[in-house]
Amino acid sequence: MDPCCGPVSPGGDSGKRDPGKRDPGTYDAIFNARFSGAIARRYRRKGLGAAEQRIVDFLVSTGIEGASVLEIGGGVGEIQLELLRRGAARAVNLELSTGYEDDARRLAEAAGLGGRVDRHVGLDIAEAPDDVEPADVVVLHRVVCCYPDYARLLGSAADHARRALVFSYPSANPLSHLFIRGMNAMLSASGRSFRGYVHPPEAMVDVVRSRGLVPEYRRGSPVWHLVGAARG
Ligand SMILES: C[S@@+](CC[C@H](N)C(=O)[O-])C[C@H]1O[C@@H](n2cnc3c(N)ncnc32)[C@H](O)[C@@H]1O
Repeated sequence: MDPCCGPVSPGGDSGKRDPGKRDPGTYDAIFNARFSGAIARRYRRKGLGAAEQRIVDFLVSTGIEGASVLEIGGGVGEIQLELLRRGAARAVNLELSTGYEDDARRLAEAAGLGGRVDRHVGLDIAEAPDDVEPADVVVLHRVVCCYPDYARLLGSAADHARRALVFSYPSANPLSHLFIRGMNAMLSASGRSFRGYVHPPEAMVDVVRSRGLVPEYRRGSPVWHLVGAARG
């Protein structure tokens, strides 16, 4: 299972945002040290996957030299590390799960980039936009499908992007809807508060556009679709 996901408020399975009532263990239960370890091992052995490489290539094409990077839900941080290697100045990572921190620190230190990465756990840009500094480029890879309120999350992310934003989302086809429904049923049956979402792709792009970013790169694959947008 490739979890892509979001919280359900305690006592409810509707997937609707319920500020102040998020189960604090929602993300930790799924994106735990085991999940993190698998991603970190794959990155150490093979480097970036195809989707991650495309995100890096798009941002490099917009000009990454000296840029600040904000990654929302960046997991172990492999995309931001590659952006730093390609000339970005510094990176901030926001995560709602505590599960990645040891792997993320080890990877950043091994790359000699630990001093240029700032990580925050539990800071949700959709809920507390004023607590997050803007950055030149903003990345959300495999994150919107883990969050119920895509408009609020993407809107806030876009507002924080001075130059460019990239996000990815899973295919919105009958198979992915079926997969997410099955995954959510299993999560519900096992008492977990975490849920996945297949949000409407064009509505997500419209959110980004409404914040003054021009979607200029779109790339599909059987699983992950990418949107790259730059400030007009
Ligand atoms: C499927 S994982 C992807 C992690 C990483 N981007 C990757 O591709 O390996 C989704 C991550 O998004 C995080 N997440 C979801 N909503 C978030 C939010 N509003 N702010 C920060 N992190 C968030 C979750 O904690 C989870 O670690």
